[in-house]
Amino acid sequence: MSDNYTKFANSPLGRLLAKNLGLPMPVHLDRYQPGDAVIAGPVLFGSAVEGKLAHSVSGILKNVNADVYGLGGKSFAADGDQKFKALVFDASGIKDSADLIKAYQFFNPVMRKTDLCSRLIVLGTSPEAAENPRHATAQRALEGFTRSLGKEIKRGGTANLIYVAPGAEDQLEATLRFFLSPRSAYVSGQVARITPSATKVSLNWDKPVALVTGASRGIGEAIARTLARDGAHVVGLDIPQLGDDLKVVTNLIGGSALALDITAGDAPAKIADYLKSNHGGVDIVVHNAGERINDALIAQGAIRDNGRIICVSSISGIAGNMGQTNYAMSKAGVIGMVQSMAKVLGPKNITINAVAPGFIETAMTAAIPFAIREAGRRMNSMAQGGLPEDVAETIAWYASPAAAGLNGNVVRVCGQSLIGA
Ligand SMILES: NC(=O)c1ccc[n+]([C@@H]2O[C@H](COP(=O)([O-])OP(=O)(O)OC[C@H]3O[C@@H](n4cnc5c(N)ncnc54)[C@H](O)[C@@H]3O)[C@@H](O)[C@H]2O)c1
Repeated sequence: MSDNYTKFANSPLGRLLAKNLGLPMPVHLDRYQPGDAVIAGPVLFGSAVEGKLAHSVSGILKNVNADVYGLGGKSFAADGDQKFKALVFDASGIKDSADLIKAYQFFNPVMRKTDLCSRLIVLGTSPEAAENPRHATAQRALEGFTRSLGKEIKRGGTANLIYVAPGAEDQLEATLRFFLSPRSAYVSGQVARITPSATKVSLNWDKPVALVTGASRGIGEAIARTLARDGAHVVGLDIPQLGDDLKVVTNLIGGSALALDITAGDAPAKIADYLKSNHGGVDIVVHNAGERINDALIAQGAIRDNGRIICVSSISGIAGNMGQTNYAMSKAGVIGMVQSMAKVLGPKNITINAVAPGFIETAMTAAIPFAIREAGRRMNSMAQGGLPEDVAETIAWYASPAAAGLNGNVVRVCGQSLIGA
């Protein structure tokens, strides 16, 4: 569904009117295109004393050919006109609330020296793994700081916090790349938690098999296309009535189509049988529609080593929504499932995570009455709805072979909507 206000606000007349009348100013967000650099502009990197992540971050910035200023990079004059595409601050060394001022001192002088669609990233130590209550308090405080940055940066910029547990430094790369890049265009004010994993990080997709439910349209179609783009063989699933639409999608991406209703009693067993007999198993399972399949897949050993399960929740499952007790209950249940199963699956070397989309431009949201739809679209830091691709890119980050350190996460893809935590 097209967002006519965003088109208007980006015209010369629209820009003038929006500015003078104090109306929302949605900008066209940078979105990833194959071949794009991870970060297309200078990165300023800084750290509080005793930051534990400087070595890992510097290595990753080097891997992505970033033009680095500050720690480990070029120097710059604070009063000069140098602009930055990303500001990255390692706050992991902050052990006491009094030292939180260091985060402010890093960001404050350079916040207005950022380009459109800039990336602000704060790195911390997981409060759960803190050395003492003071340390945990200071690290937890970074959430409020980062979320406020997300509201202040404007002009399509994002701000996100990455907590790295001690011993998980080697698992940071997939997540830092994601939050730096245009793949995270509509993800802001979020917290990702990285935990240790024995799996050696590999950035190469070795033709994994991915099951995507509800793949014939909307968000599911975008997930199927994105995972195929990144190198997966996608098994798309949808109801038999949409079998033809499903085939159009899977044929385009060289995948396979499985037409069945996941609510049927025998669906979980049928899916597990199909995956085992046609592909020897599955590496990535995306529950875009429904979530009763895990038990059968796990019982039959259909999910392979270093497998990924990704569930689609909703900000309604976090905040609740009027007239949606059933929907919010099921989406909150998805989060409960992810958090509880993460503990069970982690030792089996399988991860499970969830995305919680906000207002995404699909057939589902196009059916919402106009006034409610407009409010849903604008009530976020980007002042616009997200695209199915934004959810798909977030899922591709979780699905990446390098994302073994992400387990039990729930990340909202909502442009930092006012709805939800
Ligand atoms: N669009 C949004 O703004 C938004 C926001 C939050 C969460 N979500 C979630 O994202 C997911 C996708 O949403 P969408 O907007 O693309 O929805 P959609 O209705 O456009 O697409 C859902 C797909 O799932 C398929 N499906 C439904 N029931 C099925 C069944 N029993 N068996 C097999 N396939 C089935 C449908 O046929 C359809 O192709 C859903 O889980 C939705 O709750 C969407």
